[in-house]
Amino acid sequence: MFTIEARKMGYRVHTFSPDSDTPTGQVADIETQADYHDLLAVRTFAQSVDVVTFEFENVPAIAVEAAAEFIEVHPRGEILHTTQNRLREKTFLSSNGFPVTPFQRITDLEGLRGAVSELGYPCVLKTAGFGYDGKGQSKISNEDDIDPAFAGLNNAESVLEAFVPFEKEVSVVCAQDQAGNFVHYGVIENEHRNHILDVSFAPAAVSERVFAEAVDIARAIVDTLGYVGTLCVEFFLTTDERLLVNELAPRPHNSGHLTFDACITSQFEQQLRAVCGLPLGSVDLHRPAAMVNLLGDIWENGEPNWARSLTDPNVKLHIYGKLEPRKGRKMGHLTATAESAREAVRIALEARSRLNPLS
Ligand SMILES: Nc1ncnc2c1ncn2[C@@H]1O[C@H](COP(=O)(O)OP(=O)(O)O)[C@@H](O)[C@H]1O
Ligand SMILES: [Mg+2]
Repeated sequence: MFTIEARKMGYRVHTFSPDSDTPTGQVADIETQADYHDLLAVRTFAQSVDVVTFEFENVPAIAVEAAAEFIEVHPRGEILHTTQNRLREKTFLSSNGFPVTPFQRITDLEGLRGAVSELGYPCVLKTAGFGYDGKGQSKISNEDDIDPAFAGLNNAESVLEAFVPFEKEVSVVCAQDQAGNFVHYGVIENEHRNHILDVSFAPAAVSERVFAEAVDIARAIVDTLGYVGTLCVEFFLTTDERLLVNELAPRPHNSGHLTFDACITSQFEQQLRAVCGLPLGSVDLHRPAAMVNLLGDIWENGEPNWARSLTDPNVKLHIYGKLEPRKGRKMGHLTATAESAREAVRIALEARSRLNPLS
C-alpha cells in the first residue's frame, strides 16, 4: 500500500526482503531478495536508492546500520531498535512517564513465578522480540498455566504483563515530517479476535477528554523519539477511562488501513511524504469508516465470492497479493464508509459474510 502511494506520485520503489514475489515486490520497480543479515546485499541496495524506510519493524539493527552508512533511514535505526523489542519499548515508555500496562522482565522460571505473584492472575507472557498478531503470547490464568507458558518461550527473553480488563482498545495513527510538523487521524477504535485485529472504525466512540489525552500522548511520544514517518500508538482504555499504551508500531498500521479509502491523505502517503522530505497532507476523513480484516480462514470453503461482497457500492476491497492463504494470516481487508461509524461497521461486516461461497 505504501508502494502504491509512492508509484502514484511518480517515485520508483526498490524493495528488499528475504522473500520473493512479495506484496511490495509485485508493485515495486525492483525487488531484491536477500537475507537481512547479508550486509553486502544491504549495502548494495542502500547505494541504489535515495532514502530507506520500513513496513516491518523486525529488520535487524545491524542491517539498518549498514544501510545508514550510505543513505538516510526513516524512522531512525535507533527507534526501530527500541520498538522491535517489547522490553525496550516498555522501558522507554515508562521511563519517559507514559502510562503502560504493569510489566516485569522475565529471564527464568523462578523469575516468572515471582512476577506472577506480584502482578496477579490473569497475566500475559509475551516474547520480547518478533511477536505480531498475538504470536508468542500466552495467557496465564492460574498456577497450572505457568510451566507450559514458560516452556512455550523456548528460552526467549520475555515480558510478563498484567492482563488489562479493558473497556475497549483504541489507537492513534499519526505522522511527523522532517520539519517537525505533526498530524494525526484522531482516535480509531479496534476490536480483536484471537489477539488479531478484526475490526477498526473511525471516529472512535470516546469522550472528548479521552480523545484529547490519546492524541497528546501520541504527540509526546513522537516528540520524545524525534520521529519521522507514520507511527501508531495502540492503547487500552480501562473501565475507569484511563489510557494505557499497549504498544507502538513504527510504521503504517493495520488500524490505519481505513485511511486509504476514507481520508484525503492515507497513512501510507504520509509515510512517503515524511521520509521523502515533503510536507504532510490533509488527514480529513471524507466520511465515518470501518475496516474488517480478511484472514486466510475465509478460503476454507473455496475461493471467496468477491463479487458478492461488493454489491454494496460503499464497500472497497483490498487484497495484498500474499501467495498462500494460511489460517490467521492477514490476506486483505474491506473498508466501508457511511453516515456513522456504527453503520460503516455493519456494512463492512455484512460484506465480509457475503464472501463465504457457501452462504
Ligand atoms: N496485557 C493485556 N491485557 C489484555 N489484553 C491484551 C494484553 N496484551 C495483549 N492483549 C490482547 O492481545 C492483542 C495483541 O497483543 P499485542 O500486545 O498488541 O501484540 P501484537 O499486536 O504484537 O501481537 C491486544 O490488542 C489485546 O487485544
Ligand atoms: Mg498489537
